[in-house]
Amino acid sequence: MINSVRILRNEINTPTVNSLYFHWDVRVEPGQFVMTWVPGLSEIPMSLSLTGKEKCLTVKKYGDTSNALSNVKPGERIFFRGPYGKPFSKVRGKTLLVGGGSGMASLRPLIDQDASGVVAARSSDELLFKGLFPIDKIIVATDDGSEGIKGNIVDALREIELEKYEMIYVCGPERMIKSVVDFVAGRNINMELSLERNMKCGVGICDSCSIDGFQLCTDGPTFGLSTVLTMKEFGRTKLAESGKRIWFQ
Ligand code: FES
Repeated sequence: MINSVRILRNEINTPTVNSLYFHWDVRVEPGQFVMTWVPGLSEIPMSLSLTGKEKCLTVKKYGDTSNALSNVKPGERIFFRGPYGKPFSKVRGKTLLVGGGSGMASLRPLIDQDASGVVAARSSDELLFKGLFPIDKIIVATDDGSEGIKGNIVDALREIELEKYEMIYVCGPERMIKSVVDFVAGRNINMELSLERNMKCGVGICDSCSIDGFQLCTDGPTFGLSTVLTMKEFGRTKLAESGKRIWFQ
């Protein structure tokens, strides 16, 4: 079903990320996504960054559709279909949200009084939603050392006793997630990861999002750590727009 909503406000989060707020009276679980577009441009998958009565799409500018979405003004309409995909599991107890780059967008609905955060980015001005955590529940890392730990997300995770969390949720670029998976492999940790791949149909038909026999749009985009550890292509391949599988490692 195609949905059309009017944007209530467009908030600038970082130099490359905006959040679009709107009302949409449909149940959406954290981790699920919609296929979104503006007229004349192709669809892109986007996770919801708020899933309550007021909903939100947090847009990273990287192409025609995302650039156009970033420039939508209050009162203008955007279009989408969904929600699709498997949401994150719900748990009781302490959780850790680990977001790199714009990855904190899909983790934002999981922020509550039991959640702590690890937010990483290239530089201080690209740290997304770090202000939504209490000061004593957030660790930040930046590649250039402009804020927090100078280093990557794994350098930040080294500072934390990961085993004390009921669940660790992770989202970000695939290479970042791969480094996290390699870091925790073999440890007794509950972890779910939201993966990103090219998506065209969003409903399990086109196979553009496949990885090791899984389709991200229907089997994911959230996967448990034990499943990701079985994926031989994870962190080593991507699918080009044509569908050709490219190995980069
Ligand atoms: S996007 Fe088409 S099968 Fe997943």
